[in-house]
Parts: sequence; C-alpha cells; structure tokens
Amino acid sequence: MSQTILVETNEDLKRIFSLNLSTFVGTDVIFRQNADDVISLLKILPQISLIITKAKVGQEETAIKIFQYLKSESLETSLIVLGECPRISSEVLCLQEPVSWEILVKQAAQHLGISLQDAANKVKPDFLPVGIYYFYDIQKSPCDVFIRIKKGTNDYQYVKRIHSKDSFDRLAIKKYEDQGLREFYIPKDYIQYFTIFVTNNLVQKLERTDLTLEERILTTANAHEIVRESIQLLGLDQATIELSDASINSMVKSVKSSPEVANLIKFLFTNKVAYAYQHCHLLALMCHYILSKQSWYREDHLNILSFVSFFSDITLKSNQQMQITSMKELFEANLTDEEKRAVMNHAVDAVELLNKHPEANDYIKTVLIQSHGKLDGIGFEDNPGEDLHPLSKVFIIADTFVKTMLNPALPTRKQDILPIIYSRFTNPSYQKITKALEQKFTQ
Ligand SMILES: [Fe+2]
Repeated sequence: MSQTILVETNEDLKRIFSLNLSTFVGTDVIFRQNADDVISLLKILPQISLIITKAKVGQEETAIKIFQYLKSESLETSLIVLGECPRISSEVLCLQEPVSWEILVKQAAQHLGISLQDAANKVKPDFLPVGIYYFYDIQKSPCDVFIRIKKGTNDYQYVKRIHSKDSFDRLAIKKYEDQGLREFYIPKDYIQYFTIFVTNNLVQKLERTDLTLEERILTTANAHEIVRESIQLLGLDQATIELSDASINSMVKSVKSSPEVANLIKFLFTNKVAYAYQHCHLLALMCHYILSKQSWYREDHLNILSFVSFFSDITLKSNQQMQITSMKELFEANLTDEEKRAVMNHAVDAVELLNKHPEANDYIKTVLIQSHGKLDGIGFEDNPGEDLHPLSKVFIIADTFVKTMLNPALPTRKQDILPIIYSRFTNPSYQKITKALEQKFTQ
C-alpha cells in the first residue's frame, strides 16, 4: 500500500481527507504537524509516495521547506499544496482553499498513478502494491506481477516483471531488493487470489519438519510481517488466522531450540529481520527461559505466552510505537495524537481483534490485556502490582527486558539490563521472576 503524509491543522478536514484518501485511493495516510516532522519522517521512510501539506502552518512556510528538502535530496515524492504558494506554484500543484475532498482525492489518485474508474468518480486502483517479502517464500506466482515505473510527473507505467507460473528463487527477488525495490504490484482483481496463494504456501512451509532452525526463523519472520500487514489492512480473516497458527507453532518450535541469545541477535540483525519479529521471537524466548525456572510450569504456558508475543503489538504501525514501554516515553515521543492513542490502547485493540480468533482463550486474553501492567489494558504501569496473573508478570519482565535490549539508546548487555529491571519492578514476585531470568543467563 502506498503511503501519504498529510499536514493539515484543521481536525475535521484532517479526518475527512484521510478517510477519503484511504477509501478511494487506497493510500495509507500518516499525519505530521509541520515541515520538520515531515523531513524527519522522510529520512527514515524515503519511499513515501505523496505529501499533501498546508502551504503554511502558523508562520512556517511549510510547503516551501518541504519542497526545498525534496529537491536537495533529489527525492521523487509528489507534493500537493493546500492553499496558495506563489513561490513554487510553477513547479508544484497548489490547490486553492477551501479544498473539497473530491478534488483532493482526484489529484492524489493522479499523482499516485491510479486511474479514476466509474462515473461516480470512485477511485479504484488498477494495481495494488504488495511488500517484497510476499515473494521470499514462494517460487512462482499465481498471476502476473508488475513493477511501477515513473514516466514523468504524475505519470506511471506498470511493467510486467514476473509472468504467472514463471519460476523464480530468493536470489532473483533479492536482486530487485538490492536495487531499492520495496513493492511489487498485483492487478487488483487478483490480489485476494495472490495473498491466499502466498498464505497457503507459507503455512505449508512452516509445517514442514525438515526446515533448518535458520530457515524456520526467517520463514516465521516473513509470516509475521504478512499477518501484520493483512491485519492492519483487512482485519483478521480466515487465511490470516491459519497463517498465525502455523507461525506461532513454528515459533514455539524454534524458541525451544534457539541458540544462545547473542548469536540469535546477530542472526536476526544480519538477516535484516523486521523489528516487530525480532521483538516477538526474543520475547517468546525470554518467556521460555523464565518459565523453565518456575516450579508451576506447564507445557501450554509457553504456547500461551508465545501467542501473546505474536499478537501483542500487531496493531502498531511503526517501530517507534512498538518501542515505547512507559507513559513517560509515550508523552515525550514525537508521534501524532492518533499514533499515541494507538499505543495507549494497543493491548485492548489486540484483545478485540483476537475475539475473532478461535484459538485465543481466556488466559491469552488476560495476559494480553495486562501486558503493560494495567488491569484495563490502557497505557503503561511503571511498577505493576501483585494483583496481576502470574503469566502476565512473566510476560511483562520478558517484554521490558527485550525492548531495552533492542533499544539502541539503552544498554544492550544482559548484565546492564537486569539492574534496570530490578529497580523498576520492585514488587516481590517481579523480583523473583527477574532472578529466574538472571539465573538462566548464568547457568
Ligand atoms: Fe505492547
């Protein structure tokens, strides 16, 4: 799915524009407050397809600042300006205010290379983007696959790169990736057929017993990424449920035979595994470490905690959101109000999502809702109490440990992380759980 940045100060317009852009143009809208916010996001996500911005925010010449940045970095990102901006109007489309959403949708569609289809001007894209990782674990595609080429300003062409039934391997896909390609395009009528094909292939691969540990971890990581994307786009459907089940089983298998943590981390980083899965896998592993030291440990406890690890942050879109572990960090984070709301409520949102998942039992939902130390699942508790479920306590310690370890700004060595955990979680059972983890490391 393409991504569009929107800088609009009027809350009503913001809502109307983003709703219609995502409905009719199929683009994912990210809100930003001003030019600096946009520029810092472009530094991490240069593949943003379109920026729609107010000409000015307060006294700031927002559109001009963004335009100059795009030029200086030779970025091809399209820009649409809301309001008059004479200094750049010869090079950039400036829409006179008030801008109706219909006009904005039409212009955005044109900039994104999507054609207007029917008389009602309902925009339907002819091709839909899919992340390159959809191709990691398949050797052929059930339909033709295209790449998008920019022919000129606002003019795109779709070129067939993989024919239906052609065979290809991971190396061929890697070549595209090395050239900077992040998405392929699938004709819209085939998108469901294509995603079900990929999902079935992944499920079959994850259920194989002859996978090496490395293959298993990388395949599960891809499956996690695909589950995340389909949940965020479409919610939890049958294919996604099946893929998540196969992934969790596979993750439990690999966690039980994971190498030493340092080697595992090296492996995850060298293979560019996404942060979401790095966190998920390491979290399940730490839960396994702690559980193995508990006298009350039963086999299904690991399944429960792995299930929660898999889904705990699934509704969050960015790494920055997933890295937050306290209310203080949430308040200080450079996120929009909507992004902060998503972080605040993500435990509740995940439980709501799992109400549709037949395998999600009450234990899973309890640990998930308490996964940040709060009984109601909203926000974060710095020093959670004794009233939480014992499995939730294990999960919280493991989660905080992994998030600290993966945060480049915080200590990464276990002997430096443990004191941070001891001083934050002062209640006796949390201290005991941390002790169990420490013992596991010194075994
Ligand atoms: Fe979380």
